[in-house]
Amino acid sequence: MGELRWRVINPSGNKRVVVTKELPGDHWLEVLTSADCRTDICTDTRILDAAEIAAAVGDRCDGAIGQLTETWDEQLFAALEAAGAKAYSNYAVGYNNVDVSAATKHGIPVGNTPGVLTETTAEMAVALTFAAARRVPEGDRLMRAGRFSGWLPTLLLGELLWRRTLGIVGAGRIGTAYARMMVEGHKMDVIYYDVRRSDELEAFVTSYGRFLQSQGEAPVSCTRVESVDELLAEADVVSLHPVLDQSTRHLIDARRLGLMKETAILVNASRGPVIDEAALVAHCQTHPDFRAGLDVFEDEPSMKPGMAELDNVIVVPHLGSATSWTRRGMASLAACNVAGILMGYPVWGDDDVRHFLEGAPPKAAPSIVNAADLRLPSTRA
Ligand SMILES: NC(=O)c1ccc[n+]([C@@H]2O[C@H](COP(=O)([O-])OP(=O)(O)OC[C@H]3O[C@@H](n4cnc5c(N)ncnc54)[C@H](O)[C@@H]3O)[C@@H](O)[C@H]2O)c1
Repeated sequence: MGELRWRVINPSGNKRVVVTKELPGDHWLEVLTSADCRTDICTDTRILDAAEIAAAVGDRCDGAIGQLTETWDEQLFAALEAAGAKAYSNYAVGYNNVDVSAATKHGIPVGNTPGVLTETTAEMAVALTFAAARRVPEGDRLMRAGRFSGWLPTLLLGELLWRRTLGIVGAGRIGTAYARMMVEGHKMDVIYYDVRRSDELEAFVTSYGRFLQSQGEAPVSCTRVESVDELLAEADVVSLHPVLDQSTRHLIDARRLGLMKETAILVNASRGPVIDEAALVAHCQTHPDFRAGLDVFEDEPSMKPGMAELDNVIVVPHLGSATSWTRRGMASLAACNVAGILMGYPVWGDDDVRHFLEGAPPKAAPSIVNAADLRLPSTRA
């Protein structure tokens, strides 16, 4: 493997922050430098293992920014605590790679980066939905192979989504943003399954339906269903946006795939293990009109055997949050989480994190997931 390469910013800083990957933009570094931090950035692109991260933390480290591809477990939080660290931030909104209760046990606040991934990730889910529905990658491959021999009435027919039924599993920030894009753009009726009611989604679709009626058009509807099974049986498109935890691991398995329509489209821009991927491969092999659009995979970066050969599956390499604006924003939020805690600031008590994205940020840590357990003060009155 060889020695890891590192880049050091502000070497004379009094606090030391370890960052396991290069992050885009400069604002995040300005934030850390202003908080008197020396920042050690690993410039290697390969994924670091726990021993390498522990070695980087060493015996003196005040804070760390890690990646969703790394497992931040008990051992690493013990290493952070032993090195004197007071803060960790994931460079992601999801934190299923972090053992938050271990971090809490070691007294370490865990940050994440919500609020800048929502529209970007929803747009990727929209892109996958239409790439699957209209067979865009198949058409692209056919063109490049020189196999397009003229327009035909039956060439690569796909699915029209206008006014069809959209199923959302997990109507949180991203699920709701995706649903709004599909409802506004394509006038789809929404059914959703979530462990909690989404007043925001229901209110939006209902008032948009009224607007359509005021224009002399048919309304759209939004219904919360009681079970995932019910949603799968009814929806023409199913998009998965829940957190990954024990309640959602293999939420979509062979039995549930069997409930879906023959021509359904299944989109996953949440986390790979929400789908039993081997079962999905088997289903797509025997259901040629069923289509899947996947941003995430169960054994990333690998795909299950057989997936790569399937024309009815569209795959992209975990690009959900991959816009420059979002990735720079995530860097700012992760740096503000670490710097804010190291400066002794309270936790930001508002969902709007835009103030943290440029210039001098507010004197707060934007998003700390174990703030309540650690009894950290909040800016919320
Ligand atoms: N592909 C990507 O690059 C990418 C980018 C951002 C986020 N994500 C993933 O998307 C997830 C959602 O992000 P978000 O910002 O919308 O989070 P969020 O917390 O706003 O929404 C998650 C929703 O899942 C719901 N949920 C929890 N348990 C459930 C269950 N058993 N069944 C159905 N719903 C359940 C929650 O109630 C919540 O409404 C993240 O946790 C992350 O894993 C992926």
